[in-house]
Amino acid sequence: MCGIIGYTGSSNALPKITKGLSVLEYRGYDSVGLAATTEEGIVTVKCRGRIGALEERLTALSLEGCTSGIGHTRWATHGGPSDRNAHPHQVGRVTLVHNGIIENYKEIKAEMSANGVEFLSETDTEAAAALIDACYAASGDPVAAILQATARMKGSYAFGVLFEDRPGEVFAIRQGSPLLLARGADGFYLASDLTALLPFTTEYRCLEEGELAHLSPDGAVLLRAGGEKIIPAWIRSTMTPESAQKGGFAHFMCKEMHEEPEAVRKSVSSRIREGLPDFSADGITVDFWRQITGVQIVACGSAMHAGLVGIDLLERVAGIPATCHIASEYRYHPPLAAEGTLVLVISQSGETADTLAALRYAKSVGLPTLAIVNAVETTIAREADRCVYTYAGPEIAVATTKGYCTQLSVLYMLAAAIGHGCGRLSDTDARALVRAVSEDAPAAMAEILSRREELCELARVLAPHDHVFYIGRGVDFAMSEEGALKLKEISYIHAEAYAAGELKHGTISLVEEGTPVIAIATERALYDKTESNVREVQSRGAHVILLCPADMARGEVSATDVVPLPHGSEAATLFAALATVQLLAYETAALRGCDIDRPRNLAKSVTVE
Ligand code: G6P
Repeated sequence: MCGIIGYTGSSNALPKITKGLSVLEYRGYDSVGLAATTEEGIVTVKCRGRIGALEERLTALSLEGCTSGIGHTRWATHGGPSDRNAHPHQVGRVTLVHNGIIENYKEIKAEMSANGVEFLSETDTEAAAALIDACYAASGDPVAAILQATARMKGSYAFGVLFEDRPGEVFAIRQGSPLLLARGADGFYLASDLTALLPFTTEYRCLEEGELAHLSPDGAVLLRAGGEKIIPAWIRSTMTPESAQKGGFAHFMCKEMHEEPEAVRKSVSSRIREGLPDFSADGITVDFWRQITGVQIVACGSAMHAGLVGIDLLERVAGIPATCHIASEYRYHPPLAAEGTLVLVISQSGETADTLAALRYAKSVGLPTLAIVNAVETTIAREADRCVYTYAGPEIAVATTKGYCTQLSVLYMLAAAIGHGCGRLSDTDARALVRAVSEDAPAAMAEILSRREELCELARVLAPHDHVFYIGRGVDFAMSEEGALKLKEISYIHAEAYAAGELKHGTISLVEEGTPVIAIATERALYDKTESNVREVQSRGAHVILLCPADMARGEVSATDVVPLPHGSEAATLFAALATVQLLAYETAALRGCDIDRPRNLAKSVTVE
């Protein structure tokens, strides 16, 4: 939700800032801007639209000699996308970029207006700029000004700040929103995420809450509220610039789907010892699993859909009660938790504000917490009592694919570990499940990815429609939710998921001649029941696309089209169904000419509640 970048050093800052912003666009892309220090002072260039629009303006201006600056790509919250509301915002001697929400901005704006400040935008951010400027006017000390001003702000923020009379210096501070610092050969950087800096450096350090960063061409210093100064200890990332490039694919989403089999293997293999599930490398022993009496899964979006599959796995495989909750609802309607209940938060980005708030709530009431996170060293990963990483690598497309499937694979392993650790799953069954996820599932996904042409044909069925239904039972209902979300978010076709047996209780009235219904039936025990539901809609004119194990597909099938899925094990078939719904959504969006990696109104990392 909004991306920030900053640089100061010996090189031209502008190409670095624009390059970084183009990588950060996944965080929001309705407007973009930068501020750079020139010999004439700070110059701000900003506009509604994407990075291309900003580059055009920069070309027209031909700024020279800018070796420090800050940039921002926006996902509008306060005030619609417009030139005026785009960041950076400048008040007096302060120019800043912001990610987050200042909840008490109205009160600050009123106070600053009374002092004569004239606000130009509708943003909460401008209030922050005014407050820092007022504090700077009083103290003349940039560090004190930022600390005093932020102490009065409620909400979340990551700021990159320039002062008119401190050329070459960039200041940064954060609370609740991510920000990291980095060191390159020719200067120092700040960014919302490391992928934006990979073209320049891999040496970074996360900015901790309560730390203020002061960057200049000569160095980076961290200051704590008590006045303590720290020279950052840099960490070297193993990511390469290629991790954040399309690698010959038309879209990041397509590239990331093709990375899924390997991402699943990686996420699972480090948790296998002698064929059995083992999380000791994550610092989790069998004793820990034995203390758990139930699990509350909490997440948003696709991660929450992974949690829906997780309920089934934890109850059926591990034999413990499990529930799944929408993170933004969790702390306002907290479910009752019996002693020994584990709160399991799931997040690809590790920064989703709703999930983070739920995690903090769970900790505040004394519940043990475990996080499944992809992006390393992120807030959720660090704040949870325990963290299990997925190894999907950087995910750039807004619609998650490899992030989701690795969450699923880790949930299988967790269920197997708990079930086995608590003696409810035999050695043989645990080994079979581990093999299904580590070997059959990636192979099944790879097979589906190799059948792209077949799925492209089916996408032609979906592309002209405005409404599509997904139906399934049990885990297939959970998978239907994810399939429908994928289609909605990237193709803008309205899609709804229904428990296959529930459609007839009202919604079936919407089915008419040609309405596409995607039926997922990977669970053999439920196949006949789902098949009856397929007949119900088919006989009312629906165009049914049935996803089922290949051997089932060989019998008499009532659907209009069938996608036979690899059927080595139920886990493999479910992962194959996942790859199918992802690819169907992708091909449909491509046929409709949609902006697949940057769907309208969305952002990948949602750091506001
Ligand atoms: C956003 C993204 C979704 C994602 C959700 C949760 O809404 O657009 O694709 O599933 O956030 O994100 P997280 O990073 O916590 O998994």
